[in-house]
Amino acid sequence: MERIKIYDKTFVPYIPHDELMDCIDKVAGQINRDFAGSEDIPVVLCILNGAIMFTGELMQRLNFPCQLVSTKMTSYVGTSTTGEVKQTLPLTASLKGRRVIIAEDIIDTGLTLVALKKMLAEEGASEVKVCTMLFKKDAYRVDEKIDYIGKEIPNRFILGFGLDYNELGRNLKDIYVLED
Ligand code: IMP
Ligand code: MG
Repeated sequence: MERIKIYDKTFVPYIPHDELMDCIDKVAGQINRDFAGSEDIPVVLCILNGAIMFTGELMQRLNFPCQLVSTKMTSYVGTSTTGEVKQTLPLTASLKGRRVIIAEDIIDTGLTLVALKKMLAEEGASEVKVCTMLFKKDAYRVDEKIDYIGKEIPNRFILGFGLDYNELGRNLKDIYVLED
């Protein structure tokens, strides 16, 4: 892993791929335990674009029948949230009466999560569990339960493994952090 320059910013190695895989093993194990023997078919809801890599790895580890649905939420511009969350792609299938596991790359302020929960309530999902690969605990400012957390990280801007800086860096295998 080396330093990476994207536009005006330099990023340094932060979470290696292997450690991400361990975090994903852990949350997948917890979800498998909670959903073992389900009679329904739970939905894994991938929050595009950031959660695409995480969701792919997570789904490979789930051992019960499950369906993949996606939607896109947008709030970040550059390295911070605009505070306004928009659903920029509709759900790829109806979630009425379905149990849903939200798959997020990272939960930061929690504003996206609140918008998602509201949208899923309107959609008529029967139950919503929240799973995130990474959690910026010190930035979290809402009162929503997060059921499965891969790893807590400090409030710093990161990229790689799905996460972007102005749409670049998503293809990196490891996670990098903005140099101070
Ligand atoms: P929240 O609404 O503040 O919780 O932010 C959630 C979304 O913002 C995540 O799903 C990411 O897409 C994006 N985000 C939050 N922190 C970072 C970061 O450090 N790097 C890249 N994207 C981030
Ligand atoms: Mg995201």
